[in-house]
Amino acid sequence: MEKPADTRLNIHPVIKKRWSPRSFQSTPVKKETVQRLLEAARWAPSSFNEQPWRFMVGFKGDDTWQKIHDSMVEFNQQWAGNAPVLILAIGNKISSKGKTNNVYQYDVGQSMAYLTFQATEEGLATHQMGGFSKEKATEFFNIPEDHEPIALIAIGQQDKPEALSPDFEKMEKSPRTRKPLHELAFAGKFGEALP
Ligand SMILES: Cc1cc2nc3c(=O)[nH]c(=O)nc-3n(C[C@H](O)[C@H](O)[C@H](O)COP(=O)(O)O)c2cc1C
Repeated sequence: MEKPADTRLNIHPVIKKRWSPRSFQSTPVKKETVQRLLEAARWAPSSFNEQPWRFMVGFKGDDTWQKIHDSMVEFNQQWAGNAPVLILAIGNKISSKGKTNNVYQYDVGQSMAYLTFQATEEGLATHQMGGFSKEKATEFFNIPEDHEPIALIAIGQQDKPEALSPDFEKMEKSPRTRKPLHELAFAGKFGEALP
């Protein structure tokens, strides 16, 4: 099932196409493909080129996949169990000069966005998640104190909505919505819509 963005203006086809399904086939994704996705993430821009992103990469059946799955909240565990690839994105909070990096979360998010676009281009579905325990992930992977687990992503071939439980199937089929641009883009004063 496709759910292209209902855009008012023409945008890049990959951005129009990307969405976050929950129905995944368990068909494995090749290691080279995942490496290409990580390569896309690696080439995201970042403040001072600090590249604060780090990734724990799990393939279904391995220990890393299981630990990422175990760190999810129950809601996410209910749908993400089929995803052949699970990745935990981690941020380095400290810059190479030893100072707090104020934008590490921004940069990690940007690298994940790049990953999602590459995945979409490769015909893969992605679904990011904030619903997981940072404490569990930190403990499971022995993540150092100056790093922070930021978000998870499930990656794989999309399956039919009907493969989900009825509640998730309903969510899968619900329309995608966005706030109108005039509520988001301002000029002059904050809140004054861009003419
Ligand atoms: C940082 C982040 C955290 C998210 N957390 C969850 C989550 O825990 N569980 C979930 O089912 N979806 C999660 N989502 C998916 C969003 O709900 C989804 O991206 C949003 O509704 C927009 O839909 P779209 O991606 O299909 O355009 C998350 C997305 C992002 C970017």
